Amino acid sequence: MNENTAVLLDKIRSKTAKVCVVGLGYVGVPLAVASAQAGFRVIGVDLEKDKVSMINKGVCYVEDAYSEKHLPELVRTGSISATESLSEGANGSDIVIVCVPTPLNEKGEPDLSFLRSVARDLSKNFSGFKLVIVESTSFPGTTTDIFQPLLERNGRKPDRDFALVYSPERIDYGNAKFGVRNIPKVVGGINDESTQLGAEFYKAILDAPVVTVGSPSVAEATKMLENIFRYVNIALVNELAVLHEALGVDFIEAINAAATKPFGFMPHYPGPGVGGHCIPKDPFYLVFKAKQAGFALRLVSASKAVNKTMPVHTIERLATALKTGKKNITDSTVTIWGLAYKGEVKDTRRSPSLELLKLLKQSRAKIRVFDPYVPRVTVGGKVYESSSSEAESVRDADALIIATAHSAFRGVDLSKMSGLMRDRPILYDTRNLRNRKECEEAGFTYLATGRP
Ligand SMILES: NC(=O)c1ccc[n+]([C@@H]2O[C@H](COP(=O)([O-])OP(=O)(O)OC[C@H]3O[C@@H](n4cnc5c(N)ncnc54)[C@H](O)[C@@H]3O)[C@@H](O)[C@H]2O)c1
Repeated sequence: MNENTAVLLDKIRSKTAKVCVVGLGYVGVPLAVASAQAGFRVIGVDLEKDKVSMINKGVCYVEDAYSEKHLPELVRTGSISATESLSEGANGSDIVIVCVPTPLNEKGEPDLSFLRSVARDLSKNFSGFKLVIVESTSFPGTTTDIFQPLLERNGRKPDRDFALVYSPERIDYGNAKFGVRNIPKVVGGINDESTQLGAEFYKAILDAPVVTVGSPSVAEATKMLENIFRYVNIALVNELAVLHEALGVDFIEAINAAATKPFGFMPHYPGPGVGGHCIPKDPFYLVFKAKQAGFALRLVSASKAVNKTMPVHTIERLATALKTGKKNITDSTVTIWGLAYKGEVKDTRRSPSLELLKLLKQSRAKIRVFDPYVPRVTVGGKVYESSSSEAESVRDADALIIATAHSAFRGVDLSKMSGLMRDRPILYDTRNLRNRKECEEAGFTYLATGRP
């Protein structure tokens, strides 16, 4: 073991290493909090002035119960502070963790400009040996072929100036059971020393196993596999759901029955589309890399095609049901419950509800929305304000679409809702929160994704 590694290992074990978290978003804030909670002094860096100032006031702006609970006290005691300056953050730190965005550009291809810019800036801001950890999601090769060469500018060298690790972030935003501290962490370094340092650091801050792999590329491939697995499986159940609706077979019941198999099956559920920050984006990082290598990821492309049809299918099925009740979607009022992309969160990024709103507007239906977490959304330049309550949102509506699995929607008195709506009201439950019997007993024509 070289001396730099030995010294930093000691600092990690004694919690005297200083940690710099670059990018204070959904990933960076919980990580900063976990590091500080473990006893490390943390400085966060973000380009956004407002975020820096909120952190310095102890205000947690990310929806994460763990961060909300601990951040104020950690800021008050000086364990966490924030700055807009990367040089201020990185220069005095022993460990730099990079959590900047990796979006898709307008062509649907990876935009690595944030990562590149951090690597370039870091190469100018070295004082002493550092462990650099990349957490941003990207395709295999990003850390070694793109990030590392930029870090090596200005004569920086591995072992002498830095250790380098890729460790994918796996947090499931809004998940009450698994958060930053109890999800196992995968760590792959550019050499054994890097991997050892990375593993030691995460062991110090997590209450979960740390899994080391042979290289940053394997760790990157792990992240791609996990999210493509979800994307493709969601497409599979979406496609089969549409089929079974037509066959008159309850596919949700079939999924639940299949889930009793104790091995070889993991339930995924269909819905009105695929939303969120990661699942609809990450597969296209690997699609891009595959294309460069002369491969076409046919399953991902097929999954995209299937997943994209779900909002269209939802509105078409609704229009058909309205027609059966002698109503035209153009003259109908349709209420959407749920704007967020998943239950119990306020995040509307790539939410299927936005697509549903777009399609409803195209069909010239009158639209109302309600989401207990989201006050308003803007789609195609039009602002949709959330009604003040479930009851207010359905008054004189012809159809109600449950688009997000907020648990609040499970307990709503459906008879009261149908009583407020026009004659022959439709309830379209795209998340299967309510059952047919209670909907029909409440006077609704019942539609549900995956159910006839
Ligand atoms: N959100 C999730 O649930 C999640 C889960 C797993 C992995 N990821 C991945 O983690 C990465 C970060 O995601 P996020 O959701 O935290 O993004 P985010 O947009 O919430 O936060 C990123 C932050 O980085 C800041 N930033 C951009 N460039 C910067 C720079 N040069 N210096 C300092 N700060 C800079 C932005 O201002 C922003 O505050 C992405 O690669 C994402 O794909 C996200």
